[in-house]
Amino acid sequence: MTTYVFDRGHVAEQHRCLAAAYDPVTFARLAQTGVRAGWRCLDVGAGAGSIAHWLAGRGAVVLATDVHTDHVPPAPGLTVLRHDVVHDPLPEAAFDLVHVRLVLRHLPERDAVLRKLVTALKPGGLLQVDEFDNSYSPVLRAPDRQAAELYETFLAVKEGVFDAFGVDGAWGRKAPAAMVAAGLVDIDPRVVVHPWRAGSPGVALLAHTTRMLRDKLVAAGLTDAHLAAVRDLLADERFLATSPVVYSVHGRRPA
Ligand SMILES: C[S@@+](CC[C@H](N)C(=O)[O-])C[C@H]1O[C@@H](n2cnc3c(N)ncnc32)[C@H](O)[C@@H]1O
Repeated sequence: MTTYVFDRGHVAEQHRCLAAAYDPVTFARLAQTGVRAGWRCLDVGAGAGSIAHWLAGRGAVVLATDVHTDHVPPAPGLTVLRHDVVHDPLPEAAFDLVHVRLVLRHLPERDAVLRKLVTALKPGGLLQVDEFDNSYSPVLRAPDRQAAELYETFLAVKEGVFDAFGVDGAWGRKAPAAMVAAGLVDIDPRVVVHPWRAGSPGVALLAHTTRMLRDKLVAAGLTDAHLAAVRDLLADERFLATSPVVYSVHGRRPA
């Protein structure tokens, strides 16, 4: 199995935060594919399965895969498979729609995996890749300069931890070109940013990251006092930032 930056102990809350923050973007884009009853769909790295459930709720026949499947509840039309997308095979020309969110950034083998996902599509089938570009996420307002600098330092250290684990935090911006290189056509990106304030779902995800990555962030030079101060800032009504950029990219396997 590939090395994965996030500890298992915190993933249930991570999945809850991810769904609250990003399912609306993902569902709106999936709706634009025209997915309907009878489509065969694959959700790779399904996490807690909210996206697979949404697809199954449209009447699609859905396969949800992940290296850890214990968080995906059962649903009619949904098959859950423990599967490592780097090393395990996928059926070829089997799916009308393949979706993958925030997984490829974690995989150094992402280009080979992307080619595998393209091969899993039926000719004419659609791939939706949802990914962040963490390199653009400026702080717009903070109680004081020190707090703004702490936020920027925290984000920089977090990206350093990602780098050390082979995560490409800016991969979202590279997804369209990678999808072309993997053989897809009709590349169609949507680019989304949100205002981030105390109480925003994305801010809850970031606050959770201070706990989820605590040991790695401390090993990289932050202290528990820094992390507590970051959480205080994220809960402060004077905090305002631009979220990382979300890229939701469609590409089609040539018919
Ligand atoms: C950041 S989470 C995203 C979960 C879900 N796609 C979402 O957006 O809510 C990344 C997921 O990828 C899974 N994962 C990591 N490496 C994987 C691999 N090699 N094959 C399949 N899944 C993998 C993790 O277990 C985790 O559930």
